[in-house]
Amino acid sequence: MAEKQDVVIIGAGAAGMMCAIEAAKRGRRVLVLDHGKAPGEKIRISGGGRCNFTNIHAGPKNFLSDNPHFCKSALARYRPQDFVALVERHGIAWHEKTLGQLFCDRSAKDIVGMLLTEMKQGGAALRLETAISTIERIASGFRLTTGGGAIEAASLVVASGGKSIPKMGATGLAYRVAEQFGLPVVETRPALVPLTLDPAQLEKLGALAGVAADAEVRFGKAAFREAVLVTHRGLSGPAILQISSFWREGAEIVLRLMPEVDIAAVLKAMRRTNGRQAPQTALAEILPRRLAHFFAEETRLTGRLLADLSDRAIDALAASVQAWTLKPAGSEGYRTAEVTLGGVDTRALDSKSMQARDVPGLYFIGECVDVTGWLGGYNFQWAWASGFSAGQAV
Ligand code: FDA
Repeated sequence: MAEKQDVVIIGAGAAGMMCAIEAAKRGRRVLVLDHGKAPGEKIRISGGGRCNFTNIHAGPKNFLSDNPHFCKSALARYRPQDFVALVERHGIAWHEKTLGQLFCDRSAKDIVGMLLTEMKQGGAALRLETAISTIERIASGFRLTTGGGAIEAASLVVASGGKSIPKMGATGLAYRVAEQFGLPVVETRPALVPLTLDPAQLEKLGALAGVAADAEVRFGKAAFREAVLVTHRGLSGPAILQISSFWREGAEIVLRLMPEVDIAAVLKAMRRTNGRQAPQTALAEILPRRLAHFFAEETRLTGRLLADLSDRAIDALAASVQAWTLKPAGSEGYRTAEVTLGGVDTRALDSKSMQARDVPGLYFIGECVDVTGWLGGYNFQWAWASGFSAGQAV
């Protein structure tokens, strides 16, 4: 005899737990299955252990999708303020760090604890270390065979996340389930991920490893103004992670370091007031010293005095800093990517409920759906909002 549930949710991550809470509140018999040893593992490690649990400015413009309108409905039904109210009901202290990003004062574990408490209060069950071997459609809904026996449910919610960080249990199961039931999947790729450089570039930039600078990083129409960090493998830092979601192999990105400074004007003024210094020394007043040296070398000005430089030479030096063009070789891949771009094609889902249009009772929520947020709390907001929406419908 198979165990009977109203709703089975695969994945005890952010989206799955939110869906379980809402469905249980509506009186549904809910079981959350996860193959991991603990629920909410990505929440636990997120935001450097403090979980950037939402962004107060979150709106459809902060998400990438083949179908940019899809996320609007869920984001409007469950807003950042709704999650903040939940956090406050549980007495979890929080603060805004920057750019609308809200973090726990204490620990990301507070968010996991809050979700588990809510699930328990509503009566949603959680079963960990449970592998799912098959899923089939039956007259009353779905039948799953698991390590712990067969389970039948009228609604099946797939909340198993993307492919990012396989070491933490990411499996790509959602895409296989989508394919099994004939739903299209938009090609997936690692996103919010450091970019790598080829060996020749790394040799040139080797001395810069560890240097960080404020920059606007641009790829096509996308531009992000945050810190950039040079690493031993390439480029990282928030501005690079942001642009990695837009960048495509073979293309260049453009970095404008210290974007608010008119570097040419500053150097020309210094030429008048203190011309007997090397260009890299003058530039080091604006940029970290190693970067200043690098750009002076790039433009072959290191042996000269500022006073001897023509306007053209100063303009070229400024341009090398503020239109620094690099062609990344690749990305660090799913091993370190914070999220997976692409996923279950939203055209096959109902935007209000996350239900598959052609497979009644089957739902996809969270990261496995082709809705990917920018860095800064947007991905959790999508997990909460899509989980909430499905939770009202299952
Ligand atoms: P999530 O991946 O959280 O959960 C999926 C669950 O399904 C997991 O528990 C997994 O074990 C389970 N599962 C997978 N395959 C299974 C299978 N075959 N059988 C059974 N169970 C299975 N976002 C943000 O907004 N703010 C932040 O601060 C951060 N920080 C951050 C740091 C790091 C290091 C990473 C990797 C990611 C972030 N993110 C983030 C992104 C955020 O963690 C991510 O978008 C959400 O966790 C997605 O939630 P889901 O519930 O969709 O998947």
